[in-house]
Amino acid sequence: MNILSWIIYVPLQILFLPAVILGVSLVGYKQIVVSKKLGLSMTAIEVINGRWTMHIFGMRKDEATASLAAALPNTSLFGLWLTLFPLWVKYKISGRVAVYPRVPELGSESIVDLIVARTLYFDRVIERAMEQVDQLVVMGAGYDMRAYEKLRRNNVAFFELDQPSVQAHKLATLKSSDIVFEHVTFVSVDFANENAIDKLIESGFDKSKKTLFLWEGVTLYLSQAEVRKTMRDIRNIATAGSVLLADIYAERFIEFGGKGSSKKTLERTDEGVDFGLNFSSKHEQTLSEFVKSESMSVGERFFLGEKSDKGPFVVVVEMLID
Ligand SMILES: C[S@@+](CC[C@H](N)C(=O)[O-])C[C@H]1O[C@@H](n2cnc3c(N)ncnc32)[C@H](O)[C@@H]1O
Repeated sequence: MNILSWIIYVPLQILFLPAVILGVSLVGYKQIVVSKKLGLSMTAIEVINGRWTMHIFGMRKDEATASLAAALPNTSLFGLWLTLFPLWVKYKISGRVAVYPRVPELGSESIVDLIVARTLYFDRVIERAMEQVDQLVVMGAGYDMRAYEKLRRNNVAFFELDQPSVQAHKLATLKSSDIVFEHVTFVSVDFANENAIDKLIESGFDKSKKTLFLWEGVTLYLSQAEVRKTMRDIRNIATAGSVLLADIYAERFIEFGGKGSSKKTLERTDEGVDFGLNFSSKHEQTLSEFVKSESMSVGERFFLGEKSDKGPFVVVVEMLID
């Protein structure tokens, strides 16, 4: 079936080239231009598009993401279908994913695999950690739908933090769809200019309860001082046994995103990259020293792209609070 899938896929992909160009343009227009018009984060759309793709390709069941994506004005599922249809046909024939989306072995990822690989590594730690905590705090939640799917349980309190414009828009979209969201407490905050922890406590966060803090796809948009301050604030309020789970980017990734067309695209929605660590050599040591310097220790970690001569481009790291 795999050979047959290639025989059908290659001509179909060639035939579909104009549709792919139209699809990419539609998705880009919605993500960049419509997000800007509505004052929303276009990087959050990057993530939900990736998660929707994983859902459609049978890699990760996520009905809540599919429902939210269908209701968002700043993405285009029609555009995504046009772009990915030949690959989806190939997947349906062979029963396995190839080219994109795909799951390379740990360390062999390229930047194209970022959202897919990062999501799966976060999932792995979250599933284990959820059994030991009473609260889940999603920081810079964007359009993350983890709190609405299989993590949802009665004995855990859920909080989502994000900047006011993005959060208000997510909430309005949730209200207009069938997704159950009443178990989530929404806390709007700008990490760069406000004290997230004070706001969290005002909203009912219980300092005595073990907590999983999720910080996915956010540290790169903050300065080192903002990242360190947030880590310190969490360290100060979180009880022993709590976990901060984040992705931290290599300086080489930040340099790539901070110049040329990537920089210009991000600037359209007032987004830009800043904080990274130098993972070009001794990346394990660099990470461990950084985490230790904020009085936490490294638990499970996944260095993406570790097999590259240039070193990993990001690490998904579980930071343990004792
Ligand atoms: C790439 S998205 C990641 C979204 C989500 N964590 C996920 O994985 O789907 C980055 C998110 O961080 C939020 N963010 C960036 N800077 C922020 C700040 N200074 N204060 C609050 N939220 C911020 C954006 O609004 C956006 O939702």
